[in-house]
Amino acid sequence: MKERPTILIVDDDESIRDTLEAILRKKYFVLKARSGEEALEIVEIEEVNVMLLDIVMPGISGLEVLQKIKDRFDDIEIIMITVLKEVDIAVRAIKMGAYDYITKEFNYDDIAALVDRAVEKQKLSKELIYLQTERDQYFEDTIVMGKTPIMEQIYMLVKRIATIPATILITGETGTGKEMLARFIHRISFDTKSPFVTVHLASIPRELIESTLFGHEKGAFTGAHKQRLGKFELAHKGTIFLDEIGDLKYDTQAKLLRVIQEGCIERVGGSKTIKMDVRLIAATHINLEKAVQSEDFREDLYYRLNVIPIRLPPLRDRLVDIPILVDHFIDKYNRKFRRRVEKFTPEALKVISQYSWPGNIRELENLIERLVAVTEKEIISPEDIPVEYHFSNLTAPVVSVEGEGILKQARDIFEKNFIMKALERVRWNRTKTAKNLGIPLSTLKYKMRMLNVYKTIGERKMKYRKREPRQ
Ligand SMILES: Nc1ncnc2c1ncn2[C@@H]1O[C@H](COP(=O)(O)OP(=O)(O)OP(=O)(O)O)[C@@H](O)[C@H]1O
Ligand SMILES: [Mg+2]
Repeated sequence: MKERPTILIVDDDESIRDTLEAILRKKYFVLKARSGEEALEIVEIEEVNVMLLDIVMPGISGLEVLQKIKDRFDDIEIIMITVLKEVDIAVRAIKMGAYDYITKEFNYDDIAALVDRAVEKQKLSKELIYLQTERDQYFEDTIVMGKTPIMEQIYMLVKRIATIPATILITGETGTGKEMLARFIHRISFDTKSPFVTVHLASIPRELIESTLFGHEKGAFTGAHKQRLGKFELAHKGTIFLDEIGDLKYDTQAKLLRVIQEGCIERVGGSKTIKMDVRLIAATHINLEKAVQSEDFREDLYYRLNVIPIRLPPLRDRLVDIPILVDHFIDKYNRKFRRRVEKFTPEALKVISQYSWPGNIRELENLIERLVAVTEKEIISPEDIPVEYHFSNLTAPVVSVEGEGILKQARDIFEKNFIMKALERVRWNRTKTAKNLGIPLSTLKYKMRMLNVYKTIGERKMKYRKREPRQ
């Protein structure tokens, strides 16, 4: 049965909330929040299609809520509620991505029609996102295995284990292709209709992990207005990919262990046991053995997960694969940007083969995306490659660069690398980074702007894809 779309009404004024609810409840499932804070909690738990959002509220303002939602979700349409004299703010909200606005003097029929249109648009844009994804799928899916012996071994291994349901643990530095490999294993293990369900454990608020993984019954906790299926259930007869497994809290680790041992789950607030038939692939960039030693990770769970361990090598240990990867990404971005870049010169390949690639394949892909996007040439030579890639490590220049301003350039490169590494260590938490580096946050932000420090495009894409399609 198709569920009714969910509308969330956010207003501190009870009478407005009730009036809007009365208009909308015939056709929609209506939720109400009294403040921005409450609204932000609800969208984490419920799948809201359209939100009616008051601009002026005590606590966090409607515009801030709008910003936060637009940052985190691609597919919630927002209609602002405003009084006539604040229409200019509503216009600003539209520039920030709101769908439209209504004034508090609204007319019943108009508002119903507007909400209908927003729901329609929301459905359409979801389909568009889906189509877009389909089109990009070929390149997103093509995994370059390469010729490095260890990659060949990994390839043989995954082909051998494709048909057995054993749990797989993939480890490796950031950007080495853990998620890509997990998807590849899924593709060669199941037919195309079987689900592949990703859970990025690090991005889910702690108190929601269990209900996300195992689902919840209606009324299981405040805010659980509807029953919700957990990721394990969604992955039935397919693969569940638990990313950043090292981030799982100790108490949830015990629950996961039980699921693996017994092969069944219980929804939060439910009593039924549900049998599971799921291949589990876990991944992490941290050293789980160390985490076991420091008692941050349960030993019993570690052994349950580590049935088939796969360790992906960093790119600096796969130098022979760099030309193959470069060709693949040139192809990919030629298509995307309608360019005709042909290749890297041998010298250009040499330059990037001597760089240390702390962000691994993702960083290489990001560089090539940038080069293909901006270049008008067909052949990429060393001078097209940004200067920071000409250094094999923080100090030694690979190609000799001469002339004025070199000291400053070298210092900038050093500083940029240093800041990037510091940021990566704490997952781009700028406040923590500033503290670790012993500089004020404002200085860090200034330096990041001046030195052009930003998260790689690959990471941004990840963020975008983090939300699973609705059921
Ligand atoms: N073998 C590969 N072939 C082609 N592209 C790859 C390969 N490995 C990685 N990539 C590209 O690099 C990007 C990053 O890979 P992926 O997300 O799998 O890394 P990860 O190891 O999961 O990183 P993190 O630990 O940061 O989550 C992918 O989006 C993909 O475009
Ligand atoms: Mg990953």
